[in-house]
Amino acid sequence: MPRVLVTDKLSPAGLKILEDAEGIELDVRSGLSPEEVREALREADGIIIRSGTKLTAELLEGQTRLKAIVRAGVGVDNIDRDAATREGIVVMNTPAGNTISTAEHAVTLMLSLSRNIGPAHSSMQQGKWERGKFTGSQVAGKTLGIIGLGRIGQSVAQRALGFEMQVVGYDPFMSPERAADLGIKLVDTVDEVTTVCDYLTVHTPLTDETRNLINAERMKNMKPGVRLINCARGGIINEEDLVEAVNAGHVAGAALDVYVNEPLDPESPLLKTPNILCTPHLGASTDEAQELVAEEAADIMIGYLINKEVRHAVNMVPVSGAEMEDLKLYLDLGYRLGLLLAQQGHKGGLKSAQLHYRGEVATKKTGLITSSFAAGLLTAAMDDNVNIVNAEMMARERGIEITESKSAEHGAFSTMISATLVTGDRELTASGTMFGHDFLRLVRLENFPMEAYLDGMLLIYRHRDVPGLIGFIGTVLGKYSVNIANMALGRCSDQPGGDSVAVLNIDSEPSAEALQEIADHAEVTGVELVRLPPAGAPLPWMASDA
Ligand code: NAD
Ligand code: MLT
Repeated sequence: MPRVLVTDKLSPAGLKILEDAEGIELDVRSGLSPEEVREALREADGIIIRSGTKLTAELLEGQTRLKAIVRAGVGVDNIDRDAATREGIVVMNTPAGNTISTAEHAVTLMLSLSRNIGPAHSSMQQGKWERGKFTGSQVAGKTLGIIGLGRIGQSVAQRALGFEMQVVGYDPFMSPERAADLGIKLVDTVDEVTTVCDYLTVHTPLTDETRNLINAERMKNMKPGVRLINCARGGIINEEDLVEAVNAGHVAGAALDVYVNEPLDPESPLLKTPNILCTPHLGASTDEAQELVAEEAADIMIGYLINKEVRHAVNMVPVSGAEMEDLKLYLDLGYRLGLLLAQQGHKGGLKSAQLHYRGEVATKKTGLITSSFAAGLLTAAMDDNVNIVNAEMMARERGIEITESKSAEHGAFSTMISATLVTGDRELTASGTMFGHDFLRLVRLENFPMEAYLDGMLLIYRHRDVPGLIGFIGTVLGKYSVNIANMALGRCSDQPGGDSVAVLNIDSEPSAEALQEIADHAEVTGVELVRLPPAGAPLPWMASDA
């Protein structure tokens, strides 16, 4: 039974869903050391975490049982995504559950900063009544700059407009029309925001591009008296530069919920600088948000482990349970074409592969089929656990470029997937289709049209199409007790005597001697044995015990 490990505090609502789920075993452990997490993962099919557990490359390496990581929350920066992908582990998050709470927290910080709520409260606790000292600043009529107009950035903008602020924003992925609809003045550069705003709030992920995005240079060019808010990820605003700019008085204040190192060192200058207001990563810490993300995380994990549904994945194409059901046969066709081409004799290594999707298949999520093809292509050559999550990355890391093209127009078949593999010494093409909703067929190998079964043991021989050869092959295989289940012949021209190929489905593996006897025939130009899964076998990563 699939086991789900939970290593961070998850709302009881989420735990209950997991406890009640049929076919899932729940293992809740908190306060584990990294070494203990590594050991616990060996016995887990899935893990749900928040930000407390760091899933590093060292912890994920060699975790052959683990298939899914679900982050209850948005940021996946505590997960080594490349390492997870390499191990074939899908990483999913719950992007929307804490949007409103986090936006409310950002707005709370902005208002608290403006009205000196933190210091005023501390002063009163010390028995003082310092009304003059804590005169604040009104936000109405001021300009709020927002960097990152995703879910939280937009939600902050909506709220700021309610406070009668002007909102100017920068996000390279936001359309001007959508920004206009939201009442945001969208600009083309970060500086066009940072130089005009009275308040600046950042809502991007932490990436190489956004790390230190707000640094000394940018702060210097901001309006004097600007106030900064970071409720996204520590490091987007450079912490040292911020302390300096606040101490210098150019930046009037800052409010932070997130830090480069969490928990924040109690000796951090951020805590010693007046006018810097800090909260301990509380953006999503409301009952409502925690319940929502925990429930969603539990549903996502169950959906993946039980129905192979991929929701909110950050390292593969998302696909619903129904879509996965619909795609199953296409994925299988892609996988089998990959397996078939990889087993055709070649020298000089694999260089690239091109997939062409024609007809009905072109309207599907072909990226997944390409990944499935890549998994088939690499499976034979790799010891590692290759699957739909990691195959394309593995191919890329080995210098094999896989590309796809598509056309929705029907050809001779309502659906056809053609794969061309370029190796050091040859170019091989195989095309497949499905008959009805069950039967996969090879309909072209190189230039030879045919109709062969794409399952089990295949004996493929290239030959000149002369009388008596089929009888000869049958006799040799009979002599070695190999039964022929099906046979397909393909030749390019209508004329006998030309180059042809034959694909035989056989019931057992012929000995090397039998293959040699076939290869030695004067009219045979090549013999290959290809092993494919039996008809109807589930894809390896979709098997119920996978
Ligand atoms: P989102 O993916 O919806 O939005 C992020 C936006 O940032 C996207 O629109 C993207 O286009 C934009 N972006 C990316 N790089 C950019 C760049 N270089 N310049 C400008 N814009 C850029 O994510 P979200 O749900 O809005 O979350 C935003 C951030 O808030 C994330 O870092 C997330 O981890 C963090 N977060 C923090 C808390 C908390 O507790 N403090 C809670 C939830 C989310
Ligand atoms: C998130 O990325 O969702 C937030 O930082 C909240 C959390 O860490 O739980």
